Amino acid sequence: AADIADDLTTVLVTEEQIHARLAELGQQVTEDYDGKELVLVGVLKGAVMVMADFMRALPKHVTMDWMAVSSYGASTKSSGVVQIRKDLDIDLADKHVLIVEDIIDSGLTLAWLLENFESRGAASIEVLALLRKPDAMKVEINSRYVGFDIPSDFVVGYGLDYDERYRNLRDVAVLAPHVYS
Ligand code: PRP
Ligand code: MN
Ligand code: MG
Repeated sequence: AADIADDLTTVLVTEEQIHARLAELGQQVTEDYDGKELVLVGVLKGAVMVMADFMRALPKHVTMDWMAVSSYGASTKSSGVVQIRKDLDIDLADKHVLIVEDIIDSGLTLAWLLENFESRGAASIEVLALLRKPDAMKVEINSRYVGFDIPSDFVVGYGLDYDERYRNLRDVAVLAPHVYS
């Protein structure tokens, strides 16, 4: 089988840069939630790597839950139609919730999730996203913690997929157009 590296144009964010930034965000979150019980809600599947590394940057007690939604399928564009594939296990009522995402692209997934979570009566809801594409956003998303703003290229790696592949790439890289055109 071919190497993942053959399908990439440039590495945008290295594993080292990601870990350093998540450590900074971990400190910030620790200060901001001092004295509060925090629930991290990861969005499967893209957020698995961010969750694993970010939560280990937190020195205090924290709990974790997952929601599985999908809006992309085998496409490089968001359909805007968000489907719940797996709902949360816990009740969010009165909880301080931090949604953990790999990327805010159009923003449609998070806009939908934020509205959905607000109706569950959480005490507070904030967003942590490793990556954000300011030029691609179709809706405004108030994300308190953002790792890196990146250009609107289609990126893969560190949890991000194209057609379910490339998630195991350790860095975040731009997918070569020959792969999807
Ligand atoms: C991707 C990504 C974000 C979302 C961002 O998930 O992980 O959750 O799209 O795009 P948006 O801002 O345009 O909505 P995807 O739907 O591909 O599912 P996955 O996490 O399982 O890959
Ligand atoms: Mn996702
Ligand atoms: Mg995806």
